[in-house]
Amino acid sequence: MSFVQKAAITRKGWTGTMEVEELDPEKNALSPTPRLVSKKHDGSACRLIFAATCAFLGPFSFGYSIGYSSPALPELEKLGILTRSQSGWFGSLLTVGALIGGPFGGLLMEKFGRRTAMKFTSIPFFFGWLCIAFWSGTQGLFFGRFLCGFASGLVTVSVPVYIAETSTTSLRGTLGAGIQLSITIGILASYSAGMYFQWSDMAIIGMIPACLAFVTLYFVPETPRWLLLNGKKLEAVASLRQLRYEHADCEDECRDIEEGLDLKEQFTWSEFKKPELSRPLMISVFIMIFQQFSGINAIMFYTVTIFKNAGLGISELATVLVGAVQVGGTFVSCLLMDRMGRRRLLIIAGLSMSLSLLVMGWCYHKLDTGSSPADVGMISVICVVVYILGFSLGWGPIPMLIMSEIFPSRARGAASSIAVFTNWFCAFVVTKEFLFVQDVFGAATTFWMFAFFCACSVMFVWRKVPETKGKSLEDIELFFLGKSTLIV
Ligand code: BGC
Repeated sequence: MSFVQKAAITRKGWTGTMEVEELDPEKNALSPTPRLVSKKHDGSACRLIFAATCAFLGPFSFGYSIGYSSPALPELEKLGILTRSQSGWFGSLLTVGALIGGPFGGLLMEKFGRRTAMKFTSIPFFFGWLCIAFWSGTQGLFFGRFLCGFASGLVTVSVPVYIAETSTTSLRGTLGAGIQLSITIGILASYSAGMYFQWSDMAIIGMIPACLAFVTLYFVPETPRWLLLNGKKLEAVASLRQLRYEHADCEDECRDIEEGLDLKEQFTWSEFKKPELSRPLMISVFIMIFQQFSGINAIMFYTVTIFKNAGLGISELATVLVGAVQVGGTFVSCLLMDRMGRRRLLIIAGLSMSLSLLVMGWCYHKLDTGSSPADVGMISVICVVVYILGFSLGWGPIPMLIMSEIFPSRARGAASSIAVFTNWFCAFVVTKEFLFVQDVFGAATTFWMFAFFCACSVMFVWRKVPETKGKSLEDIELFFLGKSTLIV
């Protein structure tokens, strides 16, 4: 049982009434202190969806960059523009750029705001594609790829935070998952463009979303949380007016947000020793590690071989199919995120990914020992599809979403940079070492290793990750301070 009562408040220049909840001390022994209840501030969501759609152009460009190498590299090699080993470098430079772009994005969004960081992202994307399309020779290709990676790193840190800080509680999961949906649409767009356009024309197409993002982001506001953190109260209310419906009580919502912000102290790195910061950081870092060690980038890379082994020789069709499955699965995830919650989706996804990798390992074990049943190729194709669906449902969209939810506002830039850096570093390690591990231990063992990581990820979520569905960012902050309970 909990008691909700109206209380008149006058605080930090705000006046009005607010609901105050006292949790039943017997049932919630951990949180006997009164806490503020975030009101539902949801109405028509058109304005918020418009702002989110403009922000999604960044993840779209990021997905387009990931997908680009798949159709472009074979063509670049065939034309003699890149050698085989240079192709490998071209692929990895995206990750190298992102490793630098992530922390840079964290600094940028703390100092100049979330929206400015997102707008800035368009510049390296635009010039990156420009170099790839028009600067002839390998230097141009390499430098362009590095710039696109740098921009992708910026996107992975700034867009999730922008979405989390502008969303209403009930739409945060759906819009957060929308980031991964935009990435997968970007990947599918470049796979599809590869069927009709040359590598240089594809690069010219890549400049379009960068330009669109630069222009449209002028029409979206800075996040109210960043404005309040920087003492801009009036601008924060104006920002909420731009994000909510016509008659929304924006002052009331601003008061809720400000109540949850710690405006007294400046953030310092030594604060990561405190449990209220070290715990969410540990959760976020591990979730990023598990996302990459689930083997997603290796499996996506391996899809063509799996399809060929099954006798479905057309590699372009295989990549487009995988792209389409990712988009479909992530779309379903957007619909389920605020209903089923993050934990349940992560657990279901991890189990199905682990199971499909186990069976895939068995298929390759049978192939290696020459005792494979006739339909082993088809079974492995089904496994890939189940695996990709599982990833799209949970381990694709949720790591970035959780990262954007669980840090206190004033540490969000620094902490997200660490999580994003971990993600890209692991992506680099997995994509670089995957072929080596496979040569040494064989494909079957490699798939079983990924299956093991997926099983560990399920245990980790079950034991350590709190459910953030339906909670305001301020409630989540209170939870890590030990002053409130979330369903764990
Ligand atoms: C991951 C990338 C991956 C992509 C695939 C993202 O969430 O961070 O490493 O390539 O999903 O859709």
